[in-house]
Amino acid sequence: MDLEQLLTDRLTPAFATVAGVPVNPIVRRSPRADFQSDAALALARRLGRPPRAVAAEVLEHADLADVCSVAEVSGPGFLNLTIADEALAGLVHAIAADPRLGVPLAADPETVVVDYSAPNVAKEMHVGHLRSTVIGDAAARLLEWLGHRVLRANHLGDWGTPFGMLIEHLVDLGEMGTAQELSVGDLDAFYKAARTTFNADEAFRERARRRVVALQGGDPATLRLWRLLVEQSERYFMTVYDLLDVTLTKRDFHGESSYNDLLGPAVEDLDRLGLLRESEGASCVFPPGSVGRDGEPLPLIVRKSDGGYGYAATDLAAIRQRTGTLGATRLLYVVGLPQRRHFEMVYAVAAQAGWLVPPARAEHVGFGSILGSDGRMLRSRAGGSVKLVGLLEEAILRATALTRERNPELGEAEAAAVGRAVGIGAVKYADLSSDRHRDYVLDWERMLSLDGNTAPYLQYAYSRIRSIFRRIGTAAPLDTAISLAEPAERALAFELVGFGRVVGEVAENLEFHHLAGYLYRLAAAFSAFYEQCPVLRADGPVRDSRLVLCDLTARVLGQGLHLLGIRTPERM
Ligand code: ARG
Repeated sequence: MDLEQLLTDRLTPAFATVAGVPVNPIVRRSPRADFQSDAALALARRLGRPPRAVAAEVLEHADLADVCSVAEVSGPGFLNLTIADEALAGLVHAIAADPRLGVPLAADPETVVVDYSAPNVAKEMHVGHLRSTVIGDAAARLLEWLGHRVLRANHLGDWGTPFGMLIEHLVDLGEMGTAQELSVGDLDAFYKAARTTFNADEAFRERARRRVVALQGGDPATLRLWRLLVEQSERYFMTVYDLLDVTLTKRDFHGESSYNDLLGPAVEDLDRLGLLRESEGASCVFPPGSVGRDGEPLPLIVRKSDGGYGYAATDLAAIRQRTGTLGATRLLYVVGLPQRRHFEMVYAVAAQAGWLVPPARAEHVGFGSILGSDGRMLRSRAGGSVKLVGLLEEAILRATALTRERNPELGEAEAAAVGRAVGIGAVKYADLSSDRHRDYVLDWERMLSLDGNTAPYLQYAYSRIRSIFRRIGTAAPLDTAISLAEPAERALAFELVGFGRVVGEVAENLEFHHLAGYLYRLAAAFSAFYEQCPVLRADGPVRDSRLVLCDLTARVLGQGLHLLGIRTPERM
């Protein structure tokens, strides 16, 4: 139980008594007292009474004696609440003894599908897929930790007309040559070469067209070649996931092609419900509320004029399966903001079809772009899109060099492991610590810096605490009474007891920059504490209490970073 909740629970009956109806006390952290509620102001307006008198009456009815050392009316009618040291200490003590660090399991565990990463076969993963992979993996980790059943869905782009061209290019290159090119991860070169031939050579185009028909018709030889492309790409994507330290496995690939058999039944449902309409030869649904700039209703194309199903049909069939067959009630789509309209329309149609009805719901977890230092879309020197692996390798290289410089005592192997944890951590944290709705600038200096809201800063804070316990050679004495006589101890305690609240909020809004911001505040509060309060040189009970604060800080930092998918080396 966090403090906001505790105070809310105590104030709610008091407000109800004064108001005669339920009132939300709206308790907030405040620089003036520890917490403040301004709900008496609005209530007084409603009751037509002086606000200070209303506030005073609420306080008379509120049972706060064991929680607050001071509870008073201030200013025009605010309630200022100062937490009693013993109450705060008791909470810290309880959280230190709790393996879940004060974060309760979800009261109503659900089945959640997290649709994320989703690169395309025979195409390089680019930085857009980095954001999806990093944010989606954090969502999966967080919801799983809260006790939800999480199904990871890697909606691989493994179907569609480009495969005619890609398979013909494979044929020309030979299976060996193709395997070689794709295994070294030169996916873009393969794709581009296929595209170039396609554009230049009419005979090749004709072969590609026939190949698409054979693929859709289930021709065994064609399917075998197609599978070769898919498998090579999947193998390559797995190496990237490995490098990135994400929890996606081979079993999580649910490519677009895996919905092929479900497309027909889904479209039949839509047809039976009378939702399909012909438009320029294509079968479309016009979801209510979707209109273009000209005010005309916008169609979601379910079946193209050539009879083929497209991207939207696949997403519809996937929803039908995720809620219907898999029993999911929460569907998350971690996909860039440009696809927002697509998902709005898909969800609207799925709702009309009865596949997405409460409690089931779908959320587009959208995100902006990664920009270069020039403030424009990140581009490689040659002007192409930036290859994700290249970016990750650069991060590890830079971080390993910095690690060696900062800590020459580390052996080769440990320096390499730390460099990797710091480099990958920095890339992921830079992403997760920025508001996902916005673009952000990739800035190596900043994200690898030991100062500021960065992964290395948090990892360093963690390793510094661990070094204390290495030095004393014992664990923290968790049964110690916590003393909070120093302001820095008190400030740190407030951060420590706030973990549960921020995790609960982020599980709802999936805005990981709030969790990152929390961890940063915690680490900063720890730094101030560590500067102002001697730990090992303190006397008996105070030393023990401070050791518990140290240990709990490390555990919360470690768990918080783990939820973000970031490793915490013991030494840096
Ligand atoms: N493969 C797509 C792309 O690279 C992303 C797919 C997202 N997921 C989905 N269910 N549509 O843009």
